[in-house]
Amino acid sequence: MKLSIIGGGSWGTTLAQVLADNGHSVLIRDVNAEFVNKINTDHKHPFFDTLLPKEIRATLDLKETVEYSDILVLCVPTKVMRSVLVEIEGLLKDKKLFVNVSKGIEPDTSYRVSQIVEEVISKPHFKGYVVLSGPSHAEEVILRKLTSLVAASLHEEYAVEVQHIFSNETYIRVYTSEDVIGVETGGSMKNAIAIVSGIAYGMGLGENARAFLITRGVKEIVSIVTALGGKMETAYGLSGIGDLIVTASSMNSRNFQCGLNIGKGMSISAATEAVTQSVEGIRAIYAGYEIGIRYHLELPIIETAYHLVNGEVSVQDALANLLSRSLKPEKYW
Ligand SMILES: NC(=O)c1ccc[n+]([C@@H]2O[C@H](COP(=O)([O-])OP(=O)(O)OC[C@H]3O[C@@H](n4cnc5c(N)ncnc54)[C@H](O)[C@@H]3O)[C@@H](O)[C@H]2O)c1
Repeated sequence: MKLSIIGGGSWGTTLAQVLADNGHSVLIRDVNAEFVNKINTDHKHPFFDTLLPKEIRATLDLKETVEYSDILVLCVPTKVMRSVLVEIEGLLKDKKLFVNVSKGIEPDTSYRVSQIVEEVISKPHFKGYVVLSGPSHAEEVILRKLTSLVAASLHEEYAVEVQHIFSNETYIRVYTSEDVIGVETGGSMKNAIAIVSGIAYGMGLGENARAFLITRGVKEIVSIVTALGGKMETAYGLSGIGDLIVTASSMNSRNFQCGLNIGKGMSISAATEAVTQSVEGIRAIYAGYEIGIRYHLELPIIETAYHLVNGEVSVQDALANLLSRSLKPEKYW
């Protein structure tokens, strides 16, 4: 089968390798000429040492990529997703299946990617939508280390199709779900908690503090997921807790690294710039805070993180604010 990958950064290139390993033909589109040339001539990507399968091709040409296959894998940072989709919509002549693997929330609108797709892609060009998410550092998947994902769609047949395309019997196992809201929301909100976990680590707080913030962070992710119409069990699954475990304690996570920089005293902009690739958790903190207000949710960790990244309090004051809250029983629902 042929698949088009829109965005050849860490994750797009890694998924291209998964697809090539599974016997599929892949064309990657990226706007970065250096990435495209390196993939085509050296069979390498600047972010990895690994030699990529020779069958993977890359191009700067979006039209060529859109025409290449009936399945478009969306792998660009969420902040450029709308503009890329607008370009794609202008090029489409028939229906496509959209598979989103990006985990962010759109700045300004706080939309999930499924909502952007729904708004931008017209009915004659839309076959279906699947979100593919879960605990998956590209740095491990590119080395073919065991990884699990979940493919969620409102149409079970498309979730099952994506499950079969990406799964193999050596290192990738994909589950299915019908909870698009839950998978998308958990996948983006875990980045907010990963930043908080990184801040605690950067401040020199210990493992106890990290476990505290991650565990209570799960409660906040569950509150947000369910308020938006997702299922509690999805938040407790691979795309929620699973991804949080891998993101909130690993130096491979750019959100954790960004938080760590903030915890060490860097400004928010310097902390974000120091991490060369896209950091989506800052936007997730803003979105989580806004959702909390809209749905009257109690989200002390996200609220505190919001005041911190908004420049209203220092890391020390943020911690003091969190600890000065009234004492209460431990409850999760
Ligand atoms: N890296 C991971 O381990 C990982 C794992 C799962 C999901 N994700 C998600 O995948 C998304 C992409 O992450 P990444 O790690 O690949 O980021 P990245 O920064 O490594 O790559 C993003 C790529 O998109 C390209 N790009 C930007 N604008 C473009 C456009 N208009 N058209 C085509 N390409 C464009 C950039 O040149 C870059 O190569 C994020 O939402 C992230 O959360 C990443």
